[in-house]
Amino acid sequence: MIERTFSMIKPDAVLRGIVGEVIARIERKGLKIVGMRMIRVSEDQASRLYAVHREKPFYGELVSFIRSAPVVVMAIEGESAVSVMRRLIGSTDAKEASPGTVRGDFSCSKSMNVIHASDSVENAQKELAIFFGEGELLSYERLDAKWVT
Ligand code: CMP
Repeated sequence: MIERTFSMIKPDAVLRGIVGEVIARIERKGLKIVGMRMIRVSEDQASRLYAVHREKPFYGELVSFIRSAPVVVMAIEGESAVSVMRRLIGSTDAKEASPGTVRGDFSCSKSMNVIHASDSVENAQKELAIFFGEGELLSYERLDAKWVT
């Protein structure tokens, strides 16, 4: 099933200058980036994105970190895009993320873990709506589509 998911390259990756390496992995996997923007996350966007964590002790730290520097938000499309992206980025706690995943290769931190990706189709729709307007996502065919899917 073709799905759309939301992903965000976090401030730590922007400040470390590894945005290109992360995006390259997404493209190389055969996923299609159908929306992408570098932004500063607003207070409203952060509180909507992290609504499920509002009661957690690390919520304040989480919001201030995500707003501390620019991020790159992406809409990503592909066959089973939600689960494919989750496997590609690795476990939340980067210390435990498998080598070969983005977090496993680039981080040892739970909070500064390089990249976020939605954990379900339902959350992907909600998260995409926080950062992208209706009709803003692009439609095109990758020339290698028949070889990578
Ligand atoms: P992500 O899944 O992208 O979005 C929620 C984030 O909360 C998660 O990545 C982690 O970076 C962060 N997070 C989860 N648990 C903790 C924790 N115990 N301490 C600090 N940050 C956390």
